[in-house]
Amino acid sequence: MRTGLQKWMLAVGAAAFFMLPLTSRAQLTTLDIASRDNMQSHVAGHTGHVDDGKDDYHRYCEGCHGDMGDGNGEVAQWLQPPMWPKPRNFQLGVFKCRSTPTGTLPTDDDLFDAITRGFDRSAMPIWSVFTKYQLANLVAYVKHFSPRFVSEKPGTPITIPPEPEVTPERIKNGREVFNRVQCWKCHGVQGMANGPSASTLQDDLGFPIAPFNFTDGTRPKCGDTDQDIYRIFMTGLDGTPMPSFADNIKPDEAWDLVFYLRTLMKQPSKAKEIAKTLNLKPVNPNP
Ligand code: HEC
Ligand code: HEC
Repeated sequence: MRTGLQKWMLAVGAAAFFMLPLTSRAQLTTLDIASRDNMQSHVAGHTGHVDDGKDDYHRYCEGCHGDMGDGNGEVAQWLQPPMWPKPRNFQLGVFKCRSTPTGTLPTDDDLFDAITRGFDRSAMPIWSVFTKYQLANLVAYVKHFSPRFVSEKPGTPITIPPEPEVTPERIKNGREVFNRVQCWKCHGVQGMANGPSASTLQDDLGFPIAPFNFTDGTRPKCGDTDQDIYRIFMTGLDGTPMPSFADNIKPDEAWDLVFYLRTLMKQPSKAKEIAKTLNLKPVNPNP
């Protein structure tokens, strides 16, 4: 006869045994990661090497992103979404800030820019203090955690047509696009991050995530030039509910939408100036 405790231990043992294949798939081994030690990056006129990025990674990045690049560094436990997103798990090879279509790998330049820029509204610091050479090595180091960078090539960056002149017509048309493709569902009709879906959103790892608030003066994570904003909604932030609208918005319309978003944002812009004279009302999805 087994005691209750023995039965319980058997059950836990069996559960752990069946979990093994799952956990080993989710978490790569040191050996697997080391097999990509020859990973390189080609960015900012340098060739980056894993070996040369190692010291900087362990000194400056490991505390958050972890020794194994799985996002489980010592600091991770203190970061509570949605206020403070968890550090990125590099083993998955999924990145928010890309010039490449949704679902594809970022270019070395994208990773370089993301690391240099830092992430507003997150613990990810701005790393512009490093030399370009150090950054190129860090890009190689980040890439070597994920087998995706061996089996796949980065996507082809999307084409962004030259920025047209902002006009009242373009702003009004951008407002129509914002309504039609339902940006308001998450971002809210005034861009205040309070749309009907906002409170239900989760990232791919199941953590709560808030939409971007256009009105509070914070900066988009993936850059704040007009080109960056165009790129954000035409490529999407992979790993989050923020989708790519490349199939729903034509390039010319995309510029109109950028101008409309500028009118919602706190930062001064020409579009905001023009909007003052238009007396624009928030979109009304159910007229
Ligand atoms: C204090 C914690 C912290 C440190 C230190 C840190 N990061 Fe991060 N990093 C984060 C967090 C948090 C995110 C996720 C931000 C988000 O998704 O909004 C992130 C995201 C990233 C991304 C993802 C970019 C993308 O487009 O998705 C890269 C690449 C990155 N970090 C590289 C680095 C490198 C290289 C270093 C060291 C030089 C470093 N990080 C140091 C917290 C940190
Ligand atoms: C299903 C919900 C959802 C819809 C629909 C949606 N977004 Fe988002 N959006 C998000 C979430 C969530 C984030 C925050 C991602 C993060 O911080 O990692 C976001 C972030 C953004 C950002 C800031 C990105 C950055 O780099 O920080 C911009 C700009 C943006 N969205 C524009 C749009 C536009 C324009 C539309 C419509 C064409 C749209 N979104 C539709 C959920 C959505």
